[in-house]
Amino acid sequence: MSRATGADITTRGSDTERTGGSRGATAAAGRRPKRRVKRIALIPGDGIGVEVTRQVANLIDGLRDTGVAIDRTGIEAGADRYLRTGVTITDAEIATLGTDFDAIFLGAMGDPRVKDNVHAREILLGLRFRLDLYMNLRPVRLLDGRLSPLREPGDIDMIIVRENTEGVYAGVGGLLRAGTRDEVAIEEDINTRTGVERIIRAAFETARSAGRRLVTLTDKANAMPHAGSLWRRTFAEVGDEYPDIEREAIHADALALDLVRRPARYDVIVAPNLFGDLLSDLAAGLVGGLGIAPSASLHPGRVGLFEPVHGSAPDIAGSGRANPLAALLTAALMFEHIGLATEAAAVEVAVRHAIHSGHVTPDMGGTMDTDEVGGRVREHVLRLAGA
Ligand code: NAD
Ligand code: IPM
Ligand code: MN
Repeated sequence: MSRATGADITTRGSDTERTGGSRGATAAAGRRPKRRVKRIALIPGDGIGVEVTRQVANLIDGLRDTGVAIDRTGIEAGADRYLRTGVTITDAEIATLGTDFDAIFLGAMGDPRVKDNVHAREILLGLRFRLDLYMNLRPVRLLDGRLSPLREPGDIDMIIVRENTEGVYAGVGGLLRAGTRDEVAIEEDINTRTGVERIIRAAFETARSAGRRLVTLTDKANAMPHAGSLWRRTFAEVGDEYPDIEREAIHADALALDLVRRPARYDVIVAPNLFGDLLSDLAAGLVGGLGIAPSASLHPGRVGLFEPVHGSAPDIAGSGRANPLAALLTAALMFEHIGLATEAAAVEVAVRHAIHSGHVTPDMGGTMDTDEVGGRVREHVLRLAGA
């Protein structure tokens, strides 16, 4: 396969923007009632982020050409731009992303050429923090029993509700006497009542709307008693408002073990930022790996940021081995969120079909490359959408 660059997607997206009434949109006008066009910002990022975002771009273009009121704009933000210009993302771009789009899709950020991955933090964490996208929803579902490394996985179907704007990710701290033998590094763990309460409430609301029985809080209250106290008191207080939903608290280390032993018992797991990050990779490993793990960073009433759980995978970038299913399932979450439920369901069906048929990349035991898998899912979705 040819190596995609962020610029490819950016340029084509901008063209679509400029021409506005494209061929597809015109054809659509005759067939469907006029609806406001859903505007998607695509940030491919780095490495395989570019390769999997290209599959999402192709899917969006196909849907647009069959009459779905959707369009895309590419935003170049990533290592190439940073190394070229010294700019990661501007305040104006973040503001525009927050106001002018229905959703933002981000491939992945991370490049070994950039020291400390400063651009990745400023762009990815910048968007999460500055748009205040406090809920990071990471669904973990076993779509095919053969994908689990467990002998008896059961029906794994849980949602990790990860706090996304606080914790050790808040960037509070610093280096004292940097570079000397007496160096001190401080990374504070920030937990506000407001932040803790809103993510816990989001977990109970997620459980209620998904018809789930149990919300599990995870923390390290035994080693971090101050934060633990705030999380556990808030969990009990908010939980009392949801008498229809059971609740329990489990230390994060014990949960890591239990997720491997009895994953099917979990419905909704609510976690501080760092534990949510760690546990979501572990949970992804139970159902097929990072190649199929989607996520959404949300704040009700604001634009959502949709990001596969995986990173830029420099070890396989450019080889055609990147699994695009995580990105496509993330696109399904995005479609659902912006009111394109039919299209979201079609992506789900097509992804399941690809998995059942073995039309997958090497990480899932297949022989297809990124473009082949993405192309098949796209064609299947378009057949379903045209039916
Ligand atoms: P990673 O997720 O990029 O890769 C971990 C392993 O999983 C690698 O072996 C990789 O080849 C494999 N993998 C990941 N996604 C895959 C896919 N779609 N198909 C097939 N295999 C896949 O994590 P890492 O190696 O720790 O990080 C690499 C870079 O990505 C770092 O700079 C990191 O900070 C960044 N990162 C970014 C995001 C993001 O932008 N959302 C998330 C995680 C990591
Ligand atoms: C994720 C990633 C990010 C995180 C990194 C790249 C900062 O691992 O989205 O899971 O830790 O949140
Ligand atoms: Mn992670």
